[in-house]
Amino acid sequence: MTLTKKQLLSFEQDGYLILRNLFSKEEVTVLQAEAERIAKLDTEGIVRESQTNTPKIILRMHDPSSPTTSPAYVMAARLPRVLGAVQQILRTRSLYLHHSKINIKGAIEGSVWPWHQDFGQWKLDGIVEPNLVTFMIMLDEATELGGCLHFQPGSHRLGRIDPQWDESTAYNFYSTPIEDIKRALKQGRKPVAITGRPGDSVLFHCNLLHSSGQNLSAEDRRQVYFCYNPTSNRPQEVNNPRPEFARSTNWEPVQLEENGSLLGSKF
Ligand code: SIN
Ligand code: MN
Repeated sequence: MTLTKKQLLSFEQDGYLILRNLFSKEEVTVLQAEAERIAKLDTEGIVRESQTNTPKIILRMHDPSSPTTSPAYVMAARLPRVLGAVQQILRTRSLYLHHSKINIKGAIEGSVWPWHQDFGQWKLDGIVEPNLVTFMIMLDEATELGGCLHFQPGSHRLGRIDPQWDESTAYNFYSTPIEDIKRALKQGRKPVAITGRPGDSVLFHCNLLHSSGQNLSAEDRRQVYFCYNPTSNRPQEVNNPRPEFARSTNWEPVQLEENGSLLGSKF
């Protein structure tokens, strides 16, 4: 798959690009089954909802040395339609994974992600340039009721806004301060709901403002995220770096699997 000039321009202007039906039903079934298997493990790299203890985030599936690894996810991160598309956007073949995760926004229990830019945190990880791109794959239908992502188109052009430490949800992280969000929403473009079907995919820029609400539906909303960074932009040393599952120190470029497949007996 090669992105067209129009798609590349759209990413540049909006800060994201939606690719519909990128994975078949059979491929999504493989990824769903692996997500269910890993979610049952009792290991580091799985963050749980504070009230109910159900899994909220599984991290580092792409890394064969992680307890949360999965051959299907190792392969998914190397497919030409995934890695190749990010290579095209970032104009380099030398990319490593800063991290990977599956956000399991469970039916009813799955909680909010406040407005933020991913580079708010990633700069604090020691990364200098806002040159990262995330590739997201929907494993379930993403609806507004089910807490789909919302993006503010074009907000990646604001540059990085100093973030604030946020303990309002089970996953403590750096969100964008309320006054900055209000200003961006009042002055910028109208946010859009990133709804879709299993197998749809979305690429987005690390400075794009995004958030998602509580899952108020009876269905889980699972989404996979692969966050790629050029090896030339690998983090500088920082005091007290986040754990390996959140900030990878494996800076080996991810290799394209030209003929890679998610189907077959391997998974
Ligand atoms: C994120 O911003 O990293 C994830 C938000 C979501 O999965 O809803
Ligand atoms: Mn995010």
